[in-house]
Amino acid sequence: MGQLSLKGVVKRFGNQTVLHGLDLDIRDGEFLVFVGPSGCGKSTLLRIIAGLEDLSEGQILLDGQPIHDQPPAERGTAMVFQNYALYPHMTVADNMGFALRMAGVSKPQIREQVLQAAKSLQLENLLERLPKELSGGQRQRVAIGRAIVRNPQLFLFDEPLSNLDAALRVQMRIEITRLHQALNNTMIYVTHDQVEAMTMGQRIALFNGGKIEQVGEPLTLYNAPKNEFVAGFMGTPRINFLPVKVDAVAKALLIQGQPMHGQLSEPWPWSLASAAVKIGVRPEHWALGPPGQGLPGKLALVEHLGDAVYLHVQLAGASDMTCVKLSVSSQHFDQGENLWLLPDLQRAVWFDASQNRLPL
Ligand SMILES: Nc1ncnc2c1ncn2[C@@H]1O[C@H](COP(=O)(O)OP(=O)(O)O)[C@@H](O)[C@H]1O
Ligand SMILES: [Mg+2]
Repeated sequence: MGQLSLKGVVKRFGNQTVLHGLDLDIRDGEFLVFVGPSGCGKSTLLRIIAGLEDLSEGQILLDGQPIHDQPPAERGTAMVFQNYALYPHMTVADNMGFALRMAGVSKPQIREQVLQAAKSLQLENLLERLPKELSGGQRQRVAIGRAIVRNPQLFLFDEPLSNLDAALRVQMRIEITRLHQALNNTMIYVTHDQVEAMTMGQRIALFNGGKIEQVGEPLTLYNAPKNEFVAGFMGTPRINFLPVKVDAVAKALLIQGQPMHGQLSEPWPWSLASAAVKIGVRPEHWALGPPGQGLPGKLALVEHLGDAVYLHVQLAGASDMTCVKLSVSSQHFDQGENLWLLPDLQRAVWFDASQNRLPL
């Protein structure tokens, strides 16, 4: 079993508070991702769960039992770090079996467990090598294997793929997801990369400045973000925020001063008339309108990705650039040309003056 509960977890370094009373329940067997910008407290919380750092206030319960006062080795957790942290003078097999040897497990038993873990990570042929004789991806696999042999109730990963090149990251991402499907242990995975979070997490906890902004399934955070921070963090290129005025008399929405007719269907938020509201429109939720329809702008930059094209458009009156993602067509674009953009208002997300999503 590996059901983890965090209750009111506070962490202070001196007089600086870096975790502000976190509550979180992680289900047995769940793959949960902590994501957020650098410095928001993800590693600190993971290290507190592992016992490498004390908490200042609060409780950590594993299967209902408090573990925050136990020494790390007795908590049933195993951690994988970004920098691998392998013993350079030990072979792969000895690195992987080290914790078992320290725990007094018999040699044949260690060999058996190491071999089994090595098989699941395609390391069988590398067991006699030293870490310096391995590639970065292989070293990270050894670090993961070292965690597997301990058969922990809880796996903790801290940015384990950040030192790998892009192609290997994609491959390891899939391997770790498959490993979770095979082992079914509870896993907490820390990353600053929202693509890793979206693709790997069964649920995501999005951190911001020592607080959790939202916990939920990846598509919930993407489609129904609680606030502007969540909307802006999830998705690349970033969602576009635009100020909106609701004109209840003309039954029109004014975006950037331009009336949006024709696309509206009830119920529309006429009660918001005169309120300072914003909409968020993701790059894939725009279309190009015929001249005179939608929002006028100038094409500042085109990026061709092969399967899609990103148009960076300077809308009239807007301070930020708006990004439009189109599936590739044979259409040709000229930098500096005038375009008219139509937002898909059915899929737009609305935010109030305090940056929280309006439930429409
Ligand atoms: N040992 C420490 N002493 C003082 N401050 C620390 C220590 N470890 C982390 N911090 C601070 O705590 C905050 C959160 O850090 P961290 O958990 O490493 O963030 P993340 O992993 O999300 O990038 C940062 O402001 C960092 O400077
Ligand atoms: Mg970190």
